[in-house]
Amino acid sequence: MDITALYKISYGLFIAGVEAEGKLNACVINTATQLTVTPLYVSVTLLKSNYTAELIEKKQSLALSVISMDTPLSLIQHFGGKSGREVDKFKDITYTVDENNNPYIENTMLAFISMKVVKTIDLETHVMYIGEVTNTDHLASTAAPMTYADYRHKSAKTGKKGPEAPTVSNEKQYVCSICHYIYDGDVPFEELPEDYVCPVCNQPKSVFDAL
Ligand SMILES: Cc1cc2nc3c(=O)[nH]c(=O)nc-3n(C[C@H](O)[C@H](O)[C@H](O)COP(=O)(O)O)c2cc1C
Repeated sequence: MDITALYKISYGLFIAGVEAEGKLNACVINTATQLTVTPLYVSVTLLKSNYTAELIEKKQSLALSVISMDTPLSLIQHFGGKSGREVDKFKDITYTVDENNNPYIENTMLAFISMKVVKTIDLETHVMYIGEVTNTDHLASTAAPMTYADYRHKSAKTGKKGPEAPTVSNEKQYVCSICHYIYDGDVPFEELPEDYVCPVCNQPKSVFDAL
């Protein structure tokens, strides 16, 4: 089995934002999907250990910003590469709040989607929130939506540590199950310290899968 075959699924990219008990946070997700029309349900799936998931659990609502091809990689890295437990991700970011006081970003985004959680599904490492859409509208960007594949190509082009597979390696490869970064360091993956974290999305060694 080659799990990179799943990269052919045309995921979109989103910023999931939430305010709970005065704390504001957001993270990048690729797991937003429309499920039904009437009622209008959308699901999002988050790693349980993410701070965003902790806040959604408390608030039971969130706002999605739909990422476009105009969205800078630096913004995706900003929201997808560090945890709100360590930094205030909204400190220097211009944002708007929806009717539930959850934050979304207008600049370079295609749309916002506000939702209230109606069902929570435990998926061991992750939690899936099914939400009813309470408001949604277009935003200023007229660019195409950025897919996960677009993101991988863009990251590879910039020469940053991106999620493309290294071309020559005799060693077993490991992929981050959260952001699809493929480990390409000099030290064999198995020998990395237990506190190694993914350089793209900051998640622990334990979320990596062998290819
Ligand atoms: C392209 C990309 C896609 C991601 N998709 C998801 C996702 O669907 N669910 C998730 O929980 N984390 C996802 N992540 C990882 C989180 O954005 C990342 O772990 C973030 O640092 C969590 O921040 P928080 O602790 O402030 O919530 C993704 C990251 C990237 C770069």
